Amino acid sequence: MSGDVEALDICELLLTAQIYNESQGLDEDDIPPKIRKHYWEKKEKGVKRPLSVSEGDVEGVYGTKNARKYIASLPFVEFDDFGESLRMTVFDLGAKWFEKRGADRIRQNPVLAYYYENNNAGNISYSQVKTANRPKEVDREWIDSLISEVVEEEDDAKDLLKLVHIVAPEEVKQTLNEIVLTKEQEDKISKIVKAIEYRDYLRQIGLREIGKLLFVGPPGTGKTSTARALSERLKLPFLEVKLSMTVSHFLGETSKNVDKAFELAKRLNPCILFIDEFDFVAKTRVSDEHAALKRAVNTLLKCIDEISLVNDGVLLIGATNHPKLLDNAVWRRFDEIVMFPLPDKAMRQEILAKILASVEGDIDVADIAQRTDGYSGSDLRLLLRESVLNALVEERKVLTHEDLIKAVDAFKDRSNMKLMEGHE
Ligand SMILES: Nc1ncnc2c1ncn2[C@@H]1O[C@H](COP(=O)(O)OP(=O)(O)OP(=O)(O)O)[C@@H](O)[C@H]1O
Ligand SMILES: [Mg+2]
Repeated sequence: MSGDVEALDICELLLTAQIYNESQGLDEDDIPPKIRKHYWEKKEKGVKRPLSVSEGDVEGVYGTKNARKYIASLPFVEFDDFGESLRMTVFDLGAKWFEKRGADRIRQNPVLAYYYENNNAGNISYSQVKTANRPKEVDREWIDSLISEVVEEEDDAKDLLKLVHIVAPEEVKQTLNEIVLTKEQEDKISKIVKAIEYRDYLRQIGLREIGKLLFVGPPGTGKTSTARALSERLKLPFLEVKLSMTVSHFLGETSKNVDKAFELAKRLNPCILFIDEFDFVAKTRVSDEHAALKRAVNTLLKCIDEISLVNDGVLLIGATNHPKLLDNAVWRRFDEIVMFPLPDKAMRQEILAKILASVEGDIDVADIAQRTDGYSGSDLRLLLRESVLNALVEERKVLTHEDLIKAVDAFKDRSNMKLMEGHE
């Protein structure tokens, strides 16, 4: 029946608000992300009681306009005297009504699970529902609260934020499961995941030489994607610095910018600080560069020395395409080097299988993997894009093996053209 979902929405929100208001033991991590994001107060860094529910709130959370229309089917809901907010006249009635129809939602809403577990409804386990609920640290709203704290305390925070691009875990598009890694990469990544989990223990035993990774490999082999995916897996904010961006027109500022980027990371800890284009350092170390740039590089090296995962909660990841440009002074500052090689045939096959997973069509991935020697993961994605677009031009959504082969041939022409133009 139409209106059922909307009535459930309204009832869920009213119950959640009321139970949250009355149960001081519940906090932001008990509220499902959709509701939490709507009621989030940036300055307060949280969801403050009491929550009220207006038509605007119902629309803000669920996109349901005109809540008024739907409450006719809910005899236990009415508007308050001012006609602004909704409320439950008989809470128990509402709770019973919802229990019959909203079992799925109770299993995804810790606030509700808390109530229904205490009121013996079936076999609902609050702790299970809570574990499955996404923590607030993953939300963009959480990061914005952290940033606003920094902005309030520092005059030049705005400039600072221009140097560093900040991503919330929920904004990461590709998860670790979607990236094909070598055994060695997987091992090194699981070690770092554990190091973060057991940070306190590592501090206790005085083990501090951990948490600085250098990702080395040709373009398009998954360095940036893996670093971002780690932020999603670890539920940590991701701060990305492009070294070329920290070079100010006033070269004297550059070294200050580097300092600031590290300062911001310390303020937002725990977090991941990702420094791309690390070879930039090397380029500026060759003898006749500007003295101010050299100073900036020295500042960078000093900052790296001083930052620590165990003490500051900052996981540092550098990335470079040109390992040959890096000298010993750089290498020895990282305690783990992770190689990102061009994928071999088996890996290419796995990558293709992953990127083709949601595309319809009968494709022999082993054969395509065979034909794409030297392709990076990124090249393989481009290949798929080409094939999909070509098929769409012919009004087809089902890909054929032939489509991919054609794209491989076109790709070869393109690479040859690049060579002729003298590109890398
Ligand atoms: N091993 C892989 N598995 C799955 N996807 C991959 C893999 N390698 C690359 N890709 C895909 O290719 C695209 C580009 O990858 P990414 O930007 O992470 O490469 P990169 O190593 O950072 O390149 P660059 O050195 O140019 O910055 C992404 O969409 C990524 O998902
Ligand atoms: Mg990259």
